[in-house]
Amino acid sequence: MKIVLIGMMGSGKSTIGKRLASMIDANFLDMDEMIEQREGKAITKIFEERGEAYFRALEHLVAKELEHKSNVVIATGGGVVINKDTMAALQHNSQIVYLHIPITSIVNRLKGDRTRPLLQNTALEEKLTQVFAERKDLYASYADLVLNVDDKSIESLVRELVDKCKML
Ligand code: S3P
Repeated sequence: MKIVLIGMMGSGKSTIGKRLASMIDANFLDMDEMIEQREGKAITKIFEERGEAYFRALEHLVAKELEHKSNVVIATGGGVVINKDTMAALQHNSQIVYLHIPITSIVNRLKGDRTRPLLQNTALEEKLTQVFAERKDLYASYADLVLNVDDKSIESLVRELVDKCKML
C-alpha cells in the first residue's frame, strides 16, 4: 500500500500523513524533508540559491526513488502536481488523496510563515488564490480520493481517511 497526500501548502499533508502512517503501521516519508536532508539546507534556501526549477528537479528525483515503495504514506510539497513525470512516479501503485482546504483557512494557518518561498514578500491571500487557481484542476484530476480538511480535528480526519482508504 502506498498513500500519497497532495494539496496546497498548509493543507496538513505532513501532520495528517504522520498520524495516518502510525495508525496503519506504515512508514511516513515527507518529500520536502527528504530534499532538505539531501541538500543540507532549507527549502527557502534552495529556492533562493538555485531557483524553483532546480527544486522541481529534486522533487522529481525523490518521486522516482519512491515509485516502487510500499507500506508508505508520502507527504508531497504543494507544487508536485505541476510536473506530470513526477506525478507519474507517485501514481505508480498508489492511492492519491487530495486534502482540500478553503483559501481563507490556509491564510489563517500560514500568516507569518517564513518557510514557504512562494509566499514571501507577497500579499498572502492574493498569491494563494492565484496558485490555487493554477493548480485546482490538477489536484482534482490526480485525486483517487478527496478529503475536505478545513476545521476538523486531525484525529477525525485520520479516522475518516482510514475508513475511506479501505473502500478504495
Ligand atoms: C510548494 C510547497 C511546499 C514546498 C515548496 C513549494 C508549492 O510544500 O514544496 O515550498 O509549490 O506549493 P508544502 O505544501 O508542504 O508547504
